[in-house]
Amino acid sequence: MAVTALVGAQWGDEGKGKVIDILAQKSDMVVRAQGGNNAGHTVVANGVTYKLRLIPSGILYKGAVCVVGNGVVIDPAVILSEMDALKDSGVDVSRLKIDARAHVILPYHLALDELSEKARGAGDIGTTKRGIGPCYMDKAERIGIRMCDLIKPAVFEEKLKRNVEIKNNIITKIYGGEPISFEKTLADYKQYAQKLAPYVCDTSVLVFNAIKSGKNVLFEGAQGALLDLDVGTYPYVTSSHPVSGGFCVGAGVGPTLIKECLGIAKAYTTRVGKGPFPTELDDEIGERIRTVGAEFGTVTGRPRRCGWLDAVILRFAVRVNGLTGIALNKLDTLTGISKLKVCVAYKKDGAQICDFPSDISELEGCEPVYEEFDGWTEDVTGAKSLNDLPANAVKYLRAVEKLIDCPIKMVGVGPDRTQNFEI
Ligand code: GDP
Ligand code: IMO
Ligand code: MG
Repeated sequence: MAVTALVGAQWGDEGKGKVIDILAQKSDMVVRAQGGNNAGHTVVANGVTYKLRLIPSGILYKGAVCVVGNGVVIDPAVILSEMDALKDSGVDVSRLKIDARAHVILPYHLALDELSEKARGAGDIGTTKRGIGPCYMDKAERIGIRMCDLIKPAVFEEKLKRNVEIKNNIITKIYGGEPISFEKTLADYKQYAQKLAPYVCDTSVLVFNAIKSGKNVLFEGAQGALLDLDVGTYPYVTSSHPVSGGFCVGAGVGPTLIKECLGIAKAYTTRVGKGPFPTELDDEIGERIRTVGAEFGTVTGRPRRCGWLDAVILRFAVRVNGLTGIALNKLDTLTGISKLKVCVAYKKDGAQICDFPSDISELEGCEPVYEEFDGWTEDVTGAKSLNDLPANAVKYLRAVEKLIDCPIKMVGVGPDRTQNFEI
């Protein structure tokens, strides 16, 4: 599998965690390069469900070195509690490496995420309130605190003092919120720093050396293409780059080093948070997909909005990521729906739109143009190959491949790591 990037092809929660876990079996290194604990990746292994937010989903296999790259924003309390939970389950976390340049989420980021969302009122983004956006704002403003600062007590204290002063002004004077305590933050973060210091290094060098020596390296995307800060459904996006290009910047590797790019999609579409969603189903089929597919957020528990598969979105994901293949998950969730629809284009003001609009005001009011397919009733959760699937399920998969001009290379028929097969 050499060097493979794995990205979300929709609005996140496509089942990336499961596929990463499966591919990690054959990987020497798994690398996260963007986002933070807004991600919630589920892995079901040997009957145990793991929810990973910052640590790469490859950690469950013994061999893989797991890297948290420079583009990730790290909440130290969260990564430490995730490490503790893994240790309690008998997982060895000594293979974890954290880049010295990764930015640190601080209590004022959490406060500002909450306060700015509240101030937006009905126009809120629906963030996960984990301080992700405010942390990336500081990075872009060049006042962020990085892991290399955190582990140097004097440097950290000085930078924290300056930032708490600035942020408390904004928190109290602009938003009327409660100020953050400098002393408490300093004390808490000094403890986190001590615990995390042994894991901090220059991961760009590790990743480069692994690739150069012919190791199998897997890049683990968080979120999905439509949540990309640049090419996604702005402003209803996250503050990082979930597209494949994000790996280059967020892990410090050049684009020529990545050979394959696998897009993860569900056999239908979901989204959490606000923003337009052309194929959303506000009816009993949408409710059925939510219930059968257990579509509730891993991080926030929010019910996910559900709708038909949208080939316009998948063609967009193929384009912006340079996908070489798709892994289509949750085919099992569609079992029992007699007629399945796939959106092949949008219609607006009498015109047909085939490329995903660059401006969400254009997306608003887009009517999906559907192609309809016969469903199936047979249980597919034990399928190990295409031959085990009902003919209508195979027809559905083949039609999707044609509509998006990208091969489906893996199919998911259940949440367990065994419920996936390659084609
Ligand atoms: P991620 O953020 O992309 O890793 O996805 P999440 O973990 O947030 O959400 C995907 C959910 O679907 C999780 O509960 C997975 O256990 C589950 N899942 C993944 N693949 C399949 C599948 O093929 N079938 C079913 N029924 N569930 C799946
Ligand atoms: P995984 O990796 C789905 C969404 C939030 C919100 C928007 C901005 O599990 O697929 P943020 O907290 O990032 O500022 O929120 O992005 N969002 C996700 N939606 N899956 C995710 O991650 C997400 N991470 C962020 O719901 O709409
Ligand atoms: Mg998720």
